[in-house]
Amino acid sequence: MRTIIVTILAFLVAASVHAKTLIVYYSYTNNVERIVDALRTQIDADVLEIEPAEKGLDYAANNYAIGSAQIAAIRNNPDDAASYPAIDPIDVNLSDYDCIIVGVPLWWSNMAAPLQTFLLHYGKEMDGKKIGLIVSSASSGISGVEADAKRLIPGGDFLTPSLWIKSSQTSNAGSMLDNWLTKIDYDRLSSGINHISTDPDEKYTVYSLSGVRLLSDVRSTTGLSTGIYIINGNKTIISK
Ligand SMILES: Cc1cc2nc3c(=O)[nH]c(=O)nc-3n(C[C@H](O)[C@H](O)[C@H](O)COP(=O)(O)O)c2cc1C
Repeated sequence: MRTIIVTILAFLVAASVHAKTLIVYYSYTNNVERIVDALRTQIDADVLEIEPAEKGLDYAANNYAIGSAQIAAIRNNPDDAASYPAIDPIDVNLSDYDCIIVGVPLWWSNMAAPLQTFLLHYGKEMDGKKIGLIVSSASSGISGVEADAKRLIPGGDFLTPSLWIKSSQTSNAGSMLDNWLTKIDYDRLSSGINHISTDPDEKYTVYSLSGVRLLSDVRSTTGLSTGIYIINGNKTIISK
């Protein structure tokens, strides 16, 4: 009996771990960076900054000629990795995360090219993950950036709405973020145990305490409300 109680307690402790969030961003003139700094004061998340491999480029020179050429290359040939500008090597294990928030500037109505490079390489590892999108632009609407995100993260579970913060609103980012986190119900999605396992070979069945099967062949309890569940029928009690 004592062993069973200890086992149950151990699982309850494990279960109190929150779903993990990664913020991945690129920023050229630091507006998105300031937004990410404000976001970090509101949520608990790891942060990954994407950097172009070629340093010192002036994307704004000659009416934004370099950025314009990069976006045109991607638009002309989106399936060819050679169309995308090189970025610095990344050290990230995306299977550690349940939720990924992408922060990016808009360039010529599209997603800034260096972040597109990151998503071209890693977007397919984001299947089933919650994806939040935060876009900064001077004035243009963000539907083209949303379309890029959906093209590059085809299996993403996108949180709606995306958050558009104009560059003139950057100093007001804190309250806009606060509002947005409420709209996407971030507290609910990040609380409780969403992750049962990160091993793609493992699949679990989740039951209510009365034995009703709620989820089959899953690795996460995303979608279930906070409560106590039996996982896999092995009488492991785990709280979400
Ligand atoms: C290459 C390039 C192209 C841009 N194109 C647009 C545009 O088409 N529409 C717009 O409203 N803003 C455009 N911008 C402005 C940026 O979206 C805006 O300044 C944003 O806040 C920059 O974010 P950052 O400071 O994090 O780099 C462009 C900026 C660059 C560098």
